[in-house]
Amino acid sequence: MSNSLEIYSILNDCETLENGEDFAEMMVWYRCAIMEVETKLKVLNQEFSLRYDGNPFESIETRLKSPSSIVNKLNKKGLEITVDSIWENLHDVAGIRVVCSFQDDIYKLARMLCSQDDVSLLRIKDYIKNPKPNGYRSLHLILAIPIFLSEKKKYVKVEVQFRTIAMDFWASLEHKMKYKKNIKNPEQIVERLTKCADTIQEIDQEMQTIRKLIEKE
Ligand code: GTP
Ligand code: MG
Repeated sequence: MSNSLEIYSILNDCETLENGEDFAEMMVWYRCAIMEVETKLKVLNQEFSLRYDGNPFESIETRLKSPSSIVNKLNKKGLEITVDSIWENLHDVAGIRVVCSFQDDIYKLARMLCSQDDVSLLRIKDYIKNPKPNGYRSLHLILAIPIFLSEKKKYVKVEVQFRTIAMDFWASLEHKMKYKKNIKNPEQIVERLTKCADTIQEIDQEMQTIRKLIEKE
């Protein structure tokens, strides 16, 4: 597995040499947890589309954090680079992004997912109700879900980010532009991006209102 080879060589350079097999096994657990949560969301989408008009989400993307991002994050936080440290301290090795059409659907889906009896909600960050100072909006959940292996059951953490199409548009462009170097006027750029995020929020709310009006007819 290229992932394990990559971290193996990174860990080899560190003093705390870890067992590469443990790392590979842990990454399999994360991959399985992603599959579980993705399936849960797809099941809800199917049911929703039967019961109501239209699907609650437009797209779903999953990603497993790369070994180099894992190591960078541990370094940034001043944490040990070991398999145990990853397991204990990182919440976003398994990541899922759900892009919805409407803000109401975000909360409906999140509620339905969290109320399933094998899902535990470990943390919630509602950047829609409380946007970041730069205007970033999304609902972030850290869940723990069980995966059933041949001889044991493991509870695995998964980060699920919910956002609307409009919020996703903003976040993708902001993310791309954030890494451009040598910006002359960073404060002005941040201010303008924040303004875009606020405009997008108004549009999202208006779209939501329009949908409610149509539903009433
Ligand atoms: P991280 O160390 O970045 O994971 O921060 P955290 O553990 O405090 O988590 P938080 O919930 O704040 O953010 C996690 C993820 O949300 C990031 O990895 C990004 O995918 C996304 N995110 C958070 N803030 C921003 C932002 O300002 N812009 C964009 N484009 N994405 C963001
Ligand atoms: Mg992250």
